[in-house]
Amino acid sequence: MTNVIVLVTGGAGFIGSNFIHYYLAAHPDHHVINLDALTYAGNLENLKAIDSHPHYSFIKGDITDRALIADIFAGKKGFGCPHYVIHFAAESHVDRSIQDSSPFVISNVLGTQVLLDAAKNTWPKTTQNRFLNVSTDEVYGSLESTGYFTEQTPLSPNSPYSASKTGSDLMVRAYFETHQFPAIITRCSNNYGPYQFPEKLIPLMIHNILNEKPLPVYGQGANVRDWLYVEDHCLAIDTVLQKGQLGQVYNIGGHNEWRNIDIVHLLCDLVDQKLERKESSKRLITYVDDRKGHDLRYAIDASKMQKELGWSPQHTFETGISLTIDWYLSNLDWLADVTSGVYEHYYDKTYGGSIVMKVAKNEC
Ligand code: NAD
Ligand code: TYD
Repeated sequence: MTNVIVLVTGGAGFIGSNFIHYYLAAHPDHHVINLDALTYAGNLENLKAIDSHPHYSFIKGDITDRALIADIFAGKKGFGCPHYVIHFAAESHVDRSIQDSSPFVISNVLGTQVLLDAAKNTWPKTTQNRFLNVSTDEVYGSLESTGYFTEQTPLSPNSPYSASKTGSDLMVRAYFETHQFPAIITRCSNNYGPYQFPEKLIPLMIHNILNEKPLPVYGQGANVRDWLYVEDHCLAIDTVLQKGQLGQVYNIGGHNEWRNIDIVHLLCDLVDQKLERKESSKRLITYVDDRKGHDLRYAIDASKMQKELGWSPQHTFETGISLTIDWYLSNLDWLADVTSGVYEHYYDKTYGGSIVMKVAKNEC
């Protein structure tokens, strides 16, 4: 198909910006519209390299703005009606959702509903359109030390963030069931890679190691996450867009489980090595109070993606984490910019990341 118009919401954030870079390279004849409200997590610097690409347009706006969204779907913004929607826009950090859940309900639940309505009211009843809801494995809740999340695992979100993402998924599911709306849901495990705001574990630790700041490890550091390089997530989304079945859910993950403390140790070793530091950064590790309701373990069974759509990750953790550290080391200005100036307000002065009560254990 030529002249395909793809509406990417949240394209100035971490995964969204990686996706736009990936997608324009993979589909040079498609037109990408990036709709983003530019919250603290959205940054147009992430897209500087494609700013003047003839098939890229940016609209600053909120997905909860019904009039704006209706205009975009009516083609009143200078482009035709989008054929595909890849819906990334969301409040995405668990710690911030513990502090204040309102923006999570507004952006993640209401925002999804506004987009669904606009698309439903505009799209003809053909099978050519697609609404891909980018969701998370966190909607399944938490695992004990064994087992995996499959697409059949009951939804059991524990944090306000994951509850709001579940609300979003359930609206998408309901539109498919009620209106035969052409939707697909993907649920991915934790991503890492370039352009991730340093409030999430991996970029926060890299930032703090570089700046010789304390490395806040929640609880005992024994919680487990399943990490996927962001480019592999982008490839998976594109695969689902091209080959996925409407109404289906696809789990995305790379069988790459790590305890938090092991990741922090690894990052200390790798960054120290790259900087040829003599003194180990592990001395900076500070155990702090645990996150409230902290999910113990996430682990994805992605065999449906593998068997039905032929997707599997292209990066090993070894290459992905090395590329990631190299990216941050080569983009120190980006890192400094997103933790200072207007962003400073969103950033904890001692530990970095969200401004939650982080109390060092030895200070209790
Ligand atoms: P992010 O926080 O880095 O980026 C979110 C983007 O959405 C930002 O650019 C922000 O400005 C924009 N945004 C937020 N609210 C908006 C609104 N109301 N209107 C318009 N734009 C708005 O998030 P991310 O890590 O890139 O995650 C993207 C999506 O992927 C989210 O839906 C998230 O739930 C999902 N996801 C993330 C991960 C992960 O590990 N980061 C894993 C699985 C799924
Ligand atoms: P995070 O990157 O916030 O992703 P999520 O909570 O969505 O999985 O956190 C990943 C893990 O790292 C999680 O178990 C919480 C832990 N963590 C810390 O120990 N210290 C930190 O400073 C942060 C941000 C997270």
